[in-house]
Amino acid sequence: MTGAARRLGRDIALALARAGWQVAIHYRDSNEQAQETAMECAQLSGDSTALDADFFNEDSVRSLVPRAVAHFGHLDAVVNNASLFEHDDVNSFCYVALEAHLRSNTGAPILLAQGLHAHIQERVAAGEEHARGAVVNMLDQKLWNQNPDFLSYTLSKAALEAAGTMLALALAPHVRVVGVAPGLTLPSHLLSQERFETLHTMSPLGRSSNAADVASTVCFALDNQSITGTTLLVDGGQHLQRFERDFSMM
Ligand SMILES: NC(=O)c1ccc[n+]([C@@H]2O[C@H](COP(=O)([O-])OP(=O)(O)OC[C@H]3O[C@@H](n4cnc5c(N)ncnc54)[C@H](OP(=O)(O)O)[C@@H]3O)[C@@H](O)[C@H]2O)c1
Repeated sequence: MTGAARRLGRDIALALARAGWQVAIHYRDSNEQAQETAMECAQLSGDSTALDADFFNEDSVRSLVPRAVAHFGHLDAVVNNASLFEHDDVNSFCYVALEAHLRSNTGAPILLAQGLHAHIQERVAAGEEHARGAVVNMLDQKLWNQNPDFLSYTLSKAALEAAGTMLALALAPHVRVVGVAPGLTLPSHLLSQERFETLHTMSPLGRSSNAADVASTVCFALDNQSITGTTLLVDGGQHLQRFERDFSMM
């Protein structure tokens, strides 16, 4: 589970551990929080570990699946949750911003799906003929409800959504690939708690997603053996509405 030390990733990791999954907690900078989350996950499901990797670095990303396998003996799923979320728009857009978002939010998830698929194929070849894996890619309702803000972030998630279709076909029958697209779920440094609470009500259901909604959807996507190549939108219907700006810019 990537980016699992804190915020939404931590809630998803704990929900998975409560459901019995033994979860490797990936982090980049949040070492202390990653150790705490791993300890709580281990208390819930018996084992966990914290693994660091910087997704700007391809070798670092590629090391993650083998390190998780070395710890647990095998790996059944990858949840691609880590994400770079920095503002740009058409005026500030540059290759540096685009490349940073594509590396973190698109390239790393694809490399991890590739690594899981290779691992599952090795297990099948070694006689574990029913070995199967699953990848969950965290997307964003804003792909279905676009505005000019966060251009590079949105492009990187749109590419990941498209990759979900291609990977679902390429990695079948051994690995399923499912997108989970939250709506506005947590406040950020760009959004006060008060403003967040107002924006959270702006959806057809009168509430966007909370962390428990998103976490239970990830658990469902990993459990259900027939879902692949599609995305579950968990956003109170925000994707059905039109917003002129990103929530954090409103
Ligand atoms: N929060 C929301 O309301 C919301 C709404 C829609 C979609 N989503 C999606 O849900 C997921 C989780 O959201 P969030 O707000 O909890 O995410 P976040 O706090 O913005 O980021 C999660 C983690 O990603 C890791 N990360 C960022 N860049 C990295 C890199 N280059 N290499 C390795 N790790 C990196 C960071 O780990 P360290 O702290 O260890 O450095 C960070 O804690 C994301 O994919 C996001 O796009 C969230």
